[in-house]
Amino acid sequence: MRKKLVAGNWKMHGNLKENEALLGALIAGLSEPENKASYAVCVPYPYLTLTQSKLRGSAIKWGAQNVSQYEKGAYTGEVSVSMLNDFGCEFVIVGHSERRMLYGESNKMVAEKYLAAQHAGLIPILCVGETLEQRDSGTTKQIIDEQLKAVISLAGVDSLADAVIAYEPVWAIGTGKTATPQQAQDIHHFIRLTIAQQNAEIASDLTILYGGSVKANNAAELFVMPDIDGGLIGGASLVAEDFIAICQAAN
Ligand code: 13P
Repeated sequence: MRKKLVAGNWKMHGNLKENEALLGALIAGLSEPENKASYAVCVPYPYLTLTQSKLRGSAIKWGAQNVSQYEKGAYTGEVSVSMLNDFGCEFVIVGHSERRMLYGESNKMVAEKYLAAQHAGLIPILCVGETLEQRDSGTTKQIIDEQLKAVISLAGVDSLADAVIAYEPVWAIGTGKTATPQQAQDIHHFIRLTIAQQNAEIASDLTILYGGSVKANNAAELFVMPDIDGGLIGGASLVAEDFIAICQAAN
């Protein structure tokens, strides 16, 4: 049985005061010992110290939103996997569509980041998904297949035993236009089948999250679908009561 995971992606939001309050509210709201799902927040780098000190010993795990593919060196502005280890990160998002589109991250670069994360013992949350134009032109599955294959060819299918995939249709991110549960399920199933062609056991154990305008009022209908194992939550992860409600929907 796969365990559900709900992860917040805070993106570039908040400040010291707001983020401290948000973490405090999440700890208070997600403390019940009967939690069946796992929870995490992926915070901006400057708040990792705060996050580690607040969340240590709580039911909530933490991580970052991006990482360098390089181990160390003259890479101004970059953050390495070992730096994320220093702050107790469990997860790191790689290949978010905002990184792919705004910062030119290619499938190859995303695969390198994924591999670097795994080498350091971090769990990569690998984002895949199509744009509206790609969906309209009928190339959704081809695009996702290419995104997956880039990672599998570099890191091997077995690497997916220690990874999470997030299907995030670009047209649903921050638009309030959620994929229907069936639309999301179809692609999640496709992702699982694609991986099952290489390793059925890894495919069946793989956690596949849905991301894109998940809110407290639509989380349950998405999470009940057979191949949807939780969510990667943007906007709604910034409001404690909304994120807690989404976490509860995963239970
Ligand atoms: P929204 O939940 O704001 O649509 O963002 C989704 C997302 O990009 C999570 O990574």
